Amino acid sequence: MKAIVHDEYGEPDVLDFREVDRPEPGGKQVLVRVHAAGVNIADWFIMTGTPYMVRLAGFGLRRPTKRPVPGTDVAGTVEAVGSAVTRFKPGDEVFGEGRATFAEYACADEDDLVAKPANVTFEEAAGVPLAGITALQMLRDAARLSSGQRLLVNGSSGGIGTFAVQIAKSMGAEVTAVCGPRNVELVRELGADHVVDYSREDFTHTSERYDAILDHVMNHPFSALLKLLTPTGVLMPNSGNGGKWLGGARHTIKAAALSPFTRRRLAPLLARTTRADLEEMARMMESGQLGTVVGGTYPLSDAARAVQHVAEGHARGKVVITVQSTG
Ligand SMILES: NC(=O)c1ccc[n+]([C@@H]2O[C@H](COP(=O)([O-])OP(=O)(O)OC[C@H]3O[C@@H](n4cnc5c(N)ncnc54)[C@H](OP(=O)(O)O)[C@@H]3O)[C@@H](O)[C@H]2O)c1
Repeated sequence: MKAIVHDEYGEPDVLDFREVDRPEPGGKQVLVRVHAAGVNIADWFIMTGTPYMVRLAGFGLRRPTKRPVPGTDVAGTVEAVGSAVTRFKPGDEVFGEGRATFAEYACADEDDLVAKPANVTFEEAAGVPLAGITALQMLRDAARLSSGQRLLVNGSSGGIGTFAVQIAKSMGAEVTAVCGPRNVELVRELGADHVVDYSREDFTHTSERYDAILDHVMNHPFSALLKLLTPTGVLMPNSGNGGKWLGGARHTIKAAALSPFTRRRLAPLLARTTRADLEEMARMMESGQLGTVVGGTYPLSDAARAVQHVAEGHARGKVVITVQSTG
């Protein structure tokens, strides 16, 4: 089968489109014929080996020995199942979190996949797992957002942001979305009540107060963000950009250090894919409550450009790799 492979860490030109062995599903694993694979900034981190924490987390210190084929988000058709799989059979249409999904075939644990709703395309489904579940867990678990509360989302037009605006609206929140000029209409269409165009206005220069702030950019000091919160408000710093060593963990460490000195809640969260949350996302998509904004598609052979696009920091909704199986 064809796959994207990197033998060393580096910029997108390390990604090679070549023939590799098809994986075999063991015990509880499902082999998926990949139709689409979502791209996340995490794929850039793993491709470049930065922040260096990625290497320490077991991906390989000098070379990407553990994950030579990138990609986790996946949507496709079940091709074969391991001997202990009970929930799926060949032909089922699924989406979720797999391993090495920038390929024609990829394995996933049975519990990391759910049925793809028939009214959702493979591209739309492939955009959901990491970004959608992060948005859901941020708003439900970290913010404990409730109806009538006021939420501000900085970086509202990207992968997580577009899901966060929709999920927050479905929870009954009043949403202020911060985005660039070309995405003002998009976030309005997704349901944002108020939109701040960051090229014209600094959202921290306001007398408004929010019950929750979800910040994907972290381009303001913590003090400026905390000042915008109600006395019981919560700040969710959620940017992976924090330098070559720590990445997003820098904001988490800073939040932990500041926490004892403020009554406002600081709630960084590392999202974790669960079957229950994938099912929740599928349900919301099936009912039309939630949709994926597919802002760009690239063929598998062009995965390097797809990853580069996301890394430039101005993706619109989700960037998705489409895979045409050659056999
Ligand atoms: N906590 C977790 O478990 C977890 C999981 C996944 C990802 N993350 C982190 O979450 C962050 C967001 O991920 P994502 O997938 O949503 O990223 P993304 O799709 O690349 O979106 C980034 C968005 O940021 C916007 N943006 C750029 N500069 C801005 C500015 N100055 N002000 C306001 N918006 C700006 C861009 O919009 P414009 O084009 O309009 O500029 C773009 O839509 C990443 O840093 C990632 O590391 C955390």
